[in-house]
Amino acid sequence: MIVFPMLAYVNGHFVPRDEARVSVYDHGYLYGDGIYETMRAYGGNIFLLNRHLSRLKLSADAISLTLPLPLEKIGSALIESLTVNKLREAYIRIQISRGPGEIGLDPALCPAPTMVILVKPFKDYPAELYENGVAVAVVKTRRNHPLAQDPAIKSTNFLNNILAKIESLKAGAYEGIMLNWKGYVAEGTISNIFTVKKGVLHTPHLDTGILEGITRDLVLLLAKRSKVRVQESLMRTSDLYRADECFITNTTLEVMPVTSVDGNQVGSGIPGPVTKKLINAYRNEVQRHV
Ligand code: PDD
Repeated sequence: MIVFPMLAYVNGHFVPRDEARVSVYDHGYLYGDGIYETMRAYGGNIFLLNRHLSRLKLSADAISLTLPLPLEKIGSALIESLTVNKLREAYIRIQISRGPGEIGLDPALCPAPTMVILVKPFKDYPAELYENGVAVAVVKTRRNHPLAQDPAIKSTNFLNNILAKIESLKAGAYEGIMLNWKGYVAEGTISNIFTVKKGVLHTPHLDTGILEGITRDLVLLLAKRSKVRVQESLMRTSDLYRADECFITNTTLEVMPVTSVDGNQVGSGIPGPVTKKLINAYRNEVQRHV
């Protein structure tokens, strides 16, 4: 098999991934000053591309960053990244940082943002994870307060999530679940969380201080379409322990069942009927778009 060297997009140019470079003066590197999106392509199509572009714009506006290109052109660069790399099933990450500038916090030091697109062939998660579910751990690290660094901004400044990830790895968990500043369940390090109790689907309300996951939104819509009752609310750790079913969502995982929380078995210890229904509804929706 010939291993095709991936080309990375850096400020308008495609370069072999090992030669892709940004400045050490880039404020993305110096201060974590930037935004990003992770997308997934199925059959050569970027799933929910326009939703990701809209959220990229929301994040940019929230950090007073002017996007280097109009959204349509960013969309074209994302699609071109797939075509030049001949990828159909792909993981795609776009990252826009403040750009190179003198040391100092003032964004005006950086006249030109840096835009990078990295793609790679999508490697399916092991089927057994969907069949058996994964374990999550509620971590001590709290999710950023929305008045400090709003989790609604998809920022490359990820230390909050990394601290939580370190804890969850120590606990031997697949994902770490963070509580918000008041102790309510917020979200995973890279995912949103849901439970099912007595047939009702629950997920933390956006006011909890979380990312408005694109997968979360779609799952809520699919649940309503399948006549599953939905409640966005404040959730306690005990709601996770007492749930009949639990799952996490994100763009790459889609709907991933959770069968253990802090070592406590969720429900009967296997993915439940509502979770399975939503896994299938999500996959059908993907097929409809491809
Ligand atoms: N992460 N919450 C957090 C903190 C996330 O980082 C993500 C996504 C989500 C789910 O969002 P979506 O459904 O739009 O993917 C929720 C991506 C996958 C990442 O970090 O690469």
